Amino acid sequence: MERTFVIVKPDGVQRGLVGEIMARLERRGLRLAAAKFMAVSQEMAETHYSIHKGKPFYDGLIAYITSAPVMAMVWEGVNAVAAVRQTMGATHPTEAAPGSVRHDFGLEVGRNITHASDSVENGEKETALWFKPEELVNWQRDLDRWIFE
Ligand code: RTP
Ligand code: MG
Repeated sequence: MERTFVIVKPDGVQRGLVGEIMARLERRGLRLAAAKFMAVSQEMAETHYSIHKGKPFYDGLIAYITSAPVMAMVWEGVNAVAAVRQTMGATHPTEAAPGSVRHDFGLEVGRNITHASDSVENGEKETALWFKPEELVNWQRDLDRWIFE
């Protein structure tokens, strides 16, 4: 089953949006595989965002993601990567589709509430970076056959 890595970023946690965001992913039909409420170390932030090193927003991004706790999660399902990116909406909240998390709760790219992996490969990589293998829960939902064809 395809997996994707999701973060409710510090602004989402501070604003009390963890439950709202998890509820949207659950309602979509995605299945939770792991979740961890945690502080993000400088080292973890720099590894996770290494692709953005050198960009003008990099320092602000590292400061943002380490500024308060986050909810780190792994969600799985058919087309999980694309489905979660769509539920979160475009990077810039003012370009995000109405009904998406970033549209409904955000205004600025530097406070865009969530992270979601942008490819299947990065979903696997980020899952391995943030979670130990034993923290991932393999389970079946009784509803699965009504959601996954
Ligand atoms: P994410 O990785 O957080 O899911 O977001 P994304 O794929 O939609 O966007 P990405 O290009 O990977 O950027 C990562 C995060 O960096 C911040 N950002 N700020 N000021 C800026 O122009 C700018 N551009 C990106 C955002 O927090 C974005 O989510
Ligand atoms: Mg990204």
